[in-house]
Amino acid sequence: MNLSKIIILFSGEGSNLLNIIETLHLKEVEVAAAITNRPNAGGIAKAKAHQIPVEVIDHTHFESRENFDAKLLETIEYYRPDLVVMAGFMRILTPIVTDNIKAINVHPSLLPLFKGGNAIVKSFESSEINGGISVHWVSSELDGGEVIAQDSFSKAESETLESFTQKIRNLEHNLLPKTIVQILKKC
Ligand code: GRF
Repeated sequence: MNLSKIIILFSGEGSNLLNIIETLHLKEVEVAAAITNRPNAGGIAKAKAHQIPVEVIDHTHFESRENFDAKLLETIEYYRPDLVVMAGFMRILTPIVTDNIKAINVHPSLLPLFKGGNAIVKSFESSEINGGISVHWVSSELDGGEVIAQDSFSKAESETLESFTQKIRNLEHNLLPKTIVQILKKC
């Protein structure tokens, strides 16, 4: 069977990365590589444990955002993915990357609310009744590309930041793999 190829970009613990690998790898898609900008990202060990090639491109080693983005683009293109999935990739990208790849991102809020960093805390502390997540196309505007799918839940009376964060993660782990499969079916 000819599986579609995806690349996953991440910067942190990689719970979404691991979930995508466990749910889809060599079943629905081939995770051709995982790329991180942080040499100490927890997700590195998770990908390696599943024999996924990991590319570390440390952004602190680049003189400019554009130089980093050029290296990132070159690395992505080497694998010729059908889709790039950003799962907790904490970098603002320039059009050098965004104009040249087909990519989606998962964001822990109901966009257009709470774009950018600290979205979970902002959403938790807000007067909104619901928390939620969005999967959207990546454009050069931060968290601004067209929304593809969203899911939400009502904040409980007894909600803590911890329980709220866990609900966000659970929604992400359910919606992101489903959305990847749906997009690749349409390719
Ligand atoms: C997720 O909540 C994602 O929405 C946000 O960063 C978090 C990454 O978590 N952008 P993990 O590294 O996948 O555990």
